[in-house]
Amino acid sequence: MLTQKPTINYGLEGIYVDESAISKVDGQNGRLWYRGYSIEELADKSNFEEVSYLLIYGKLPTKTEFDEFVMKLKDRTGLPDEVKRVIRKMAPIAHPMDIMRTATSMLVMYDKDPNNRDLESTVDKIITLLAKLPSIAAAIGRFREKKRYIEPDSSLNLSENFLYMLTGRRPNKFEGKLIDLMFILHAEHSTNASTFSVLVTASTLADVYAATTTGIGTLKGPLHGGADEAALNMIKAIGDPDNTEKYIEEALEGKQKIMGFGHRVYKAYDPRAKLVRSYLEESLIKEPTDEVRRLLQIALRAEKLMIEKLGKSKGIWPNIDFLAGPLYRVLGIDSKLFTPIFVASRMSGWGSHIVEYWNNNKLVRPLEYYTGPLDVPYKPIELRQ
Ligand code: SDX
Repeated sequence: MLTQKPTINYGLEGIYVDESAISKVDGQNGRLWYRGYSIEELADKSNFEEVSYLLIYGKLPTKTEFDEFVMKLKDRTGLPDEVKRVIRKMAPIAHPMDIMRTATSMLVMYDKDPNNRDLESTVDKIITLLAKLPSIAAAIGRFREKKRYIEPDSSLNLSENFLYMLTGRRPNKFEGKLIDLMFILHAEHSTNASTFSVLVTASTLADVYAATTTGIGTLKGPLHGGADEAALNMIKAIGDPDNTEKYIEEALEGKQKIMGFGHRVYKAYDPRAKLVRSYLEESLIKEPTDEVRRLLQIALRAEKLMIEKLGKSKGIWPNIDFLAGPLYRVLGIDSKLFTPIFVASRMSGWGSHIVEYWNNNKLVRPLEYYTGPLDVPYKPIELRQ
């Protein structure tokens, strides 16, 4: 029996729970590597399919490996009719993240051996989910606007096909680069809350679909993946660039968290946010809409003020979610679909961690320090006040 209270790390802050070779997040210097490749290099030279292969298999694919991987993905981007029916039914009522979670969970029905945890079977399930999640996100976007479902176009890559299935228009080269960049930047980030929750579920030897459904539920929260939607809602609430400073100051005085800023690990500018910012500035050169121009003006004034007030002093800097919104608006994507896109991308990180963790599985079961009474005498209901 413990005599004195042990050290408790709330939220597992600063606690190492595993070792991994998938990604390195250098919070002090604002750096990120996937399997040893810098995020800047991958954002500039790679694509989401190649990054997904890198994360899952631990190496960049040869041309033959890449073509085979892409072929498998392209063959699986379609959705079963029952899944489309449920999405259509939920679209007018439920939040897109709740529909993502439900539709993803249904996919287990089409897997002949869902509980098979052999490496080959596990990777095959991850490929199926990587292929279908963007289609589910796009179908949600279509049915929310009471538009018809658009079948996938196998001539496009996963991220371009997502945009096509959402808008009915094949993206141009720059639009294709922007959406693929966002898929690459959101793919993996070590033991963030949703990836850790995926590992907790996988550690019980539940199946890939169960672990993925856990991850989607966890990613929804505004302190995590839901911050991208919340950050754009805040920028929209500010409305006029000249309101920015007043709005932020009042929010901080009211002890409100400014969405899109701060991070458990990064105590410097999130390197992913820097990349989003640079592509946003590039998109400003190409006829941006007035909406995007205004959003960006507000975002940049909010960023400047937050860095002045909380950057250097408290290590609260912009994270990827802050500028993701304005960039998605360049592509005409509704804010309610931002986190579903995050799900479609992060499936590569979740999947790679499941594969790695099952190599040396250990049930996740931490302790909590009990503060209640012991051996309380039971009182029959008629004697209780
Ligand atoms: C993602 O972990 C990952 O890797 C996640 C992610 C990924 O790729 O998977 O990077 C994606 O989720 C990015 C984070 C998105 N979330 C947000 O933008 C929501 C706003 N951010 C905060 O809620 C906060 O910064 C967290 C939750 C992200 C991290 O918070 P911590 O580490 O739990 O720290 P904390 O909430 O205890 O804050 C410490 C102090 C507090 O002030 P004091 O009580 O000490 O005076 O910093 C303040 C906080 O009030 N603070 C903020 C703030 N974030 C922290 N104050 C104002 N605005 C903020 N955004």
